[in-house]
Amino acid sequence: MYTLNFDQQAFLETYWQKQPLVIKAAFKDFADPIAADELAGLACEEEIASRIILTKQNNWEIIQGPIEDYAPFGEDNWQLLVQAVNHWYPDSQPLVDVFRFIPDWRFDDLMVSFATPGGGVGPHIDNYDVFLLQGEGKRRWKVGPIGNYSPRGGDTHTALIDDFEPIIDVVLEAGDMLYIPPGFPHRGETIETALSYSIGFRAPSQQELISGIADHLIDTNSGLKRFTSTQEPTEPGLLPLTQQEGMLELLRELLTKPEYYQPVLGQLLSQNRFELDLCEPDGEHTSEELLEALEDGAEIQRIGGLKVIRIEGDSQKRLFINGEIYCLDEVEADTLTTLANQISFDSDTALALCKQPDVAEYFLWLLDQGYAYLA
Ligand code: SIN
Ligand code: CO
Repeated sequence: MYTLNFDQQAFLETYWQKQPLVIKAAFKDFADPIAADELAGLACEEEIASRIILTKQNNWEIIQGPIEDYAPFGEDNWQLLVQAVNHWYPDSQPLVDVFRFIPDWRFDDLMVSFATPGGGVGPHIDNYDVFLLQGEGKRRWKVGPIGNYSPRGGDTHTALIDDFEPIIDVVLEAGDMLYIPPGFPHRGETIETALSYSIGFRAPSQQELISGIADHLIDTNSGLKRFTSTQEPTEPGLLPLTQQEGMLELLRELLTKPEYYQPVLGQLLSQNRFELDLCEPDGEHTSEELLEALEDGAEIQRIGGLKVIRIEGDSQKRLFINGEIYCLDEVEADTLTTLANQISFDSDTALALCKQPDVAEYFLWLLDQGYAYLA
């Protein structure tokens, strides 16, 4: 079991999205949820995103996974990074769960890295919030102030930046954690062969929001209202200010209507950037089979990384699940809350919830989609 050894409320008020923070002994007696050889096993898989970074003289080279043979890399100056380990390795779920004091819609993934002495990804800036948690081994981290940094060597194709003057320079040991908000440059260097965990959180950009709205309007064949004007400019080659404003007003009208923006946000923010490990069943479950399994003590477990989101102020009773909309018209309001917040349902809870026929159907749907399994 993992428990965070700091005041999460105080952290949210003072540091979250604002300032980096070193949290020594954030986990007491931290035990790695995964071993290096198990991580290497995940990195062999085609559908799992992984890469090796080689530390070169003043440069870093990326080798994209899958990675099958580590012999060419030697004993030092390389690091293996595996994304979305929480999707593929259920034993990592308890570690991810403790970060649910930050809402699920923000959560990106658990990236696990194995680094040999000298290994690191180089100085860079991320556009997401990250908690860097140290497992076994030791790594030294430097964090710089927020600012304008040039791409390393003037190469705009790299995420690497020039070196920076650190405001934090710290060695992390097992259970220590470093929180870095978006935009703060950082670099890690490995002192002793290490396993580390990056718990990442994202938020949508204007580009993603606008394209989410566009997708929704196309899918639902809505937003077809056209611009009208009763006054035209006297110059043929002019688009006047009043017409520019009128067109933007048409857009704004959409953005102020919850019936448009709520499903857009729900669908967009319940999607996962990384492939899910769907637990596809052999055949469809029947409700009798489900009830029987629950009566025999089975529990319903959502797969790792699945996002189930409820929208506050929604005019409909529904959940947004991995980009899909699932309506539960007949359920009580607090049932919707339970279904969104709970990742697993023990047999008693699930049986009690199944008394509402909509919920029994919902559980069956989750199982049939491979979004949940019976454990
Ligand atoms: C690393 O573990 O070195 C990479 C993680 C990060 O910088 O976000
Ligand atoms: Co980073």
